Amino acid sequence: MSAISDKAAAPALAVERITHQDVPAICALYKKVWEAAPSGLPTELLKAWQPTPLEFTSWMEGVTYFAARREGKLIGVVGCEVRHGACHLVNLAVDPDTRRQRVASSLIAASLEWAKHTNAPVVWGDALARFTAAAALLKHAGFTECGVLHKHEWNEDVRLFERIL
Ligand SMILES: CC(C)(COP(=O)(O)OP(=O)(O)OC[C@H]1O[C@@H](n2cnc3c(N)ncnc32)[C@H](O)[C@@H]1OP(=O)(O)O)[C@@H](O)C(=O)NCCC(=O)NCCS
Repeated sequence: MSAISDKAAAPALAVERITHQDVPAICALYKKVWEAAPSGLPTELLKAWQPTPLEFTSWMEGVTYFAARREGKLIGVVGCEVRHGACHLVNLAVDPDTRRQRVASSLIAASLEWAKHTNAPVVWGDALARFTAAAALLKHAGFTECGVLHKHEWNEDVRLFERIL
C-alpha cells in the first residue's frame, strides 16, 4: 500500500504497512507508551502490552499492521485483524510526545481503507473503560459505542465501538 500523507501537518506524516525491519522500533514504542501510562493499571496488562520482538512477531500472524512515521521516526502503530469478515483494530498506540497531532486518526483512516480493501462490512475497536482518550478518539473517528464487556480484561471493563462501512 502506498504512503498516506497528511498534508496539513508539517513535517508530513506517513502511514504505511510495517515490515519485519520495524519490529524493534515498534516494541520500543509500546514500551515507551505503557511505561508512561498512569499508575494503577494491572501489572499483567503492562507486561502483556510490552511485547518482546519475538512476541510481536507472533502478534503479526494474521494481523495487518500499519505504522505512522514523521521524519522517519516511528510514532504510532495499529493492527487490523480481519476475522469472520470483520476488521478489529488492535494494539493501537501513539508516542506520548506526539499526542493530539492526528497520528491515531491517520492510523484509523488507513485501517478503514484496509477494511474496505478486504470487503469487511464493519470495523470495530475496544478499549478499557478507563481509557477515556481511546473512547474519545474512536467517537471522533465516527465509531458508535455498542456495548461493554464487564471485567473482560484483567478484571477491567472493556467498551466496544463499531463503525459500519
Ligand atoms: C488514544 C491514543 C491512541 C490517541 O492518539 P492521538 O494520536 O493523540 O489521537 P488524535 O490526535 O488522532 O486524536 C483525534 C481526536 O480524538 C480525541 N482525543 C484523542 N485523545 C484525547 C484525549 N486525551 N482526551 C480527549 N479527547 C481525545 C479528540 O477528539 C481528538 O481531536 P482533537 O485533538 O482535535 O480534540 C493515544 O492517547 C494513546 O496511544 N493512548 C495510550 C494507548 C491507548 O489507549 N490505545 C488505545 C487502545 S484502543
